Amino acid sequence: MKKIFTLVSFALCCLAFNRVTIQNPNPEEPEYIPPSPQRDGDPKIGYEYLITGDYLKSGIPFSYYKLAYGKRNSEYLKRDSLNEGISYEFTAVKASNGEIVVAPNCLQCHAQVIDNKLIMGLGNSTVDFTSGERVNASNAAIAESFLKKTSRKKYEAAEPFLKVVKVVSKQLRTQVRGVNTADRLAALLAAHRNPQTFRWSDTAMMDIPEQVIPSDVPAWWLVKKKHGLFYNGFGRGDFGRFLMASNLLTVTDTSESNEVDTHFNNVLAYLKTIEPPKYPYSINQSLAKEGGIIFVQNCSKCHGNGDEYPNLLIPESIIKTDSFLYKSNYQNPQFVDWFNNSWFAQGDHPAKLVPYNGYMAPPLDGVWITAPYFHNGSVPTLEAVLNSKERPQYWSRNYKKLEYDYQKVGWKYSVDKKPGGSTVYNTDLPGYGNYGHYFGDHLTNKERKAVIEYLKTL
Ligand code: HEC
Ligand code: HEC
Repeated sequence: MKKIFTLVSFALCCLAFNRVTIQNPNPEEPEYIPPSPQRDGDPKIGYEYLITGDYLKSGIPFSYYKLAYGKRNSEYLKRDSLNEGISYEFTAVKASNGEIVVAPNCLQCHAQVIDNKLIMGLGNSTVDFTSGERVNASNAAIAESFLKKTSRKKYEAAEPFLKVVKVVSKQLRTQVRGVNTADRLAALLAAHRNPQTFRWSDTAMMDIPEQVIPSDVPAWWLVKKKHGLFYNGFGRGDFGRFLMASNLLTVTDTSESNEVDTHFNNVLAYLKTIEPPKYPYSINQSLAKEGGIIFVQNCSKCHGNGDEYPNLLIPESIIKTDSFLYKSNYQNPQFVDWFNNSWFAQGDHPAKLVPYNGYMAPPLDGVWITAPYFHNGSVPTLEAVLNSKERPQYWSRNYKKLEYDYQKVGWKYSVDKKPGGSTVYNTDLPGYGNYGHYFGDHLTNKERKAVIEYLKTL
């Protein structure tokens, strides 16, 4: 029944929006993603740009930032001059009128502090989008009217940021803590910007799906192996164009995009140099070796082995994990159409989105530290990934003090009897399901232990 429904909605969506090409010729077989040409770059220059560059050219006035945040989290990146004393998640930049503003940077979502160490490229899985307070709309409105009255120049510099925050922040709520809303943010920014000129409009120019898609954040050290970006592998063509997408938050016109674009070949080059952190405790080598053999028999055809990575998309009929994320591209093809007709898809190094009915089997490098697991972060440990009966329906972890479980490998968690509050992960919610990927279920407990030992070595 469910299948029929899917087919019907599939057919309807294709009839109504025939510009989205569904490239899923054989939905029962995994599909190989071919590589796209990428621009070369300099990783050192890319790193500098990532942590100090003005890919967002608007933000909050410097003095306001200092008042509100002080020197919090400023010890992790050894930045100097303007950025000394600024949290690693923000960057002080010069706005086009010369005023200094502080803007959020990529590390808001793509870095995490564990045991007092900043791990670059590790997805931030403690982020809290449940209250909408992270970027507060009413504060933005107050700041805007205050600035207007007190400092015309500061207002000018902050305006592109504040006007967007006012509109989007209320629409970025998730049901539970620890999941990200980047897909929703992208959809919102697209809906409010002209695809050719990127001109902002306070009213949305296309429909935005009602439900917010929750997702985990993939580790940056996987990018070097991938031929398609994002969980459903739909990011194709020039990767730098996707890396710079945050610029859409505050961009004023496409001449700015053209300038920002010239740096992201270097950022990509830097991302490709990031290596996953090593498992910090001792590993039982003979058990890991046994696990490696089981891995080759059961897992490597999808996930790869060593330097070999097959770049496969796995269709719904095989993977069976929560379909909410990839289906959204079919149910709301206007976002894909927007992108494929936008500035991003033009020029001599275009990017494009190619939707797929399933998920990419990710490389498993450094997987011991990337909990929670699956694209929606619904499973707290590797043990539970490999044994679906172990997956908790409702679970909580300690957000005040991060506690990692080095045996089950993942977050220490407690099982809750019922859902409730924003810190209990509720797998009953649409998009938050923890089912599917049953490839470890038929193994014995001993075999699973061996596989986990092996995964610690990656
Ligand atoms: C608001 C949080 C957020 C910010 C800020 C952010 N990202 Fe992301 N990023 C995500 C999420 C979530 C995904 C996964 C989305 C998906 O696959 O559906 C992602 C995916 C990616 C990917 C694809 C990784 C892969 O394995 O496919 C790259 C590369 C990336 N981001 C780079 C960047 C860069 C560079 C910046 C800064 C210019 C940035 N991101 C800013 C949340 C964020
Ligand atoms: C048919 C292909 C396929 C096989 C076989 C397979 N996987 Fe996966 N695996 C996937 C896909 C696709 C995902 C992403 C699913 C999602 O996020 O919804 C995934 C996700 C995972 C994840 C979570 C990664 C993360 O960072 O969230 C782990 C761990 C994993 N697989 C381990 C294994 C192990 C171990 C085996 C063998 C016992 C295995 N897989 C067999 C396709 C496969």
